[in-house]
Amino acid sequence: MTFAMIKPNGVASGLVGRIIERYESARLSVCAIKMHQMTSADARGFYAEHVEKPFFGELEEYMTKGPSVMLVLGGENAVAKVRAINGATNPAKSEPGTIRHDFAPSMTENVVHSSDGVESAAREIAFWFEKENIYAYDAASQKACCVMAK
Ligand code: CMP
Repeated sequence: MTFAMIKPNGVASGLVGRIIERYESARLSVCAIKMHQMTSADARGFYAEHVEKPFFGELEEYMTKGPSVMLVLGGENAVAKVRAINGATNPAKSEPGTIRHDFAPSMTENVVHSSDGVESAAREIAFWFEKENIYAYDAASQKACCVMAK
């Protein structure tokens, strides 16, 4: 499982459906979803490793200016798959066909976020979601069952 987020400019530009479609088309399942406008405290907690970076002020302003869509995505190699679908952090360096290449105007306003590894995925999922609200899918039966896979 991994964590992904459609950032405020993605939501405001009406890209939510098109972005989720890309994940689902890659055989990833939506295991949890919610819409939430980050507070400054949320931004400081979620992006704790960036708080001291020179770009943090701009990042905080961007992330708190409107709601984002938080997602838990499940499926084989979910972490690597979502990173590949999103493209490079800097849209100018992203490959054609990736979300950031196709939709992101700048490095800060890069439309989507995704966890960069299995450990950060567990931390980021737990930051936004209660275990009870994450639905893992049994691939064989396609039935949802309420279990949190860390
Ligand atoms: P994200 O993948 O959410 O992780 C940190 C975010 O900070 C990044 O996407 C960008 O929105 C933003 N950012 C702005 N400048 C930089 C930078 N120089 N390096 C990394 N992230 C940056």
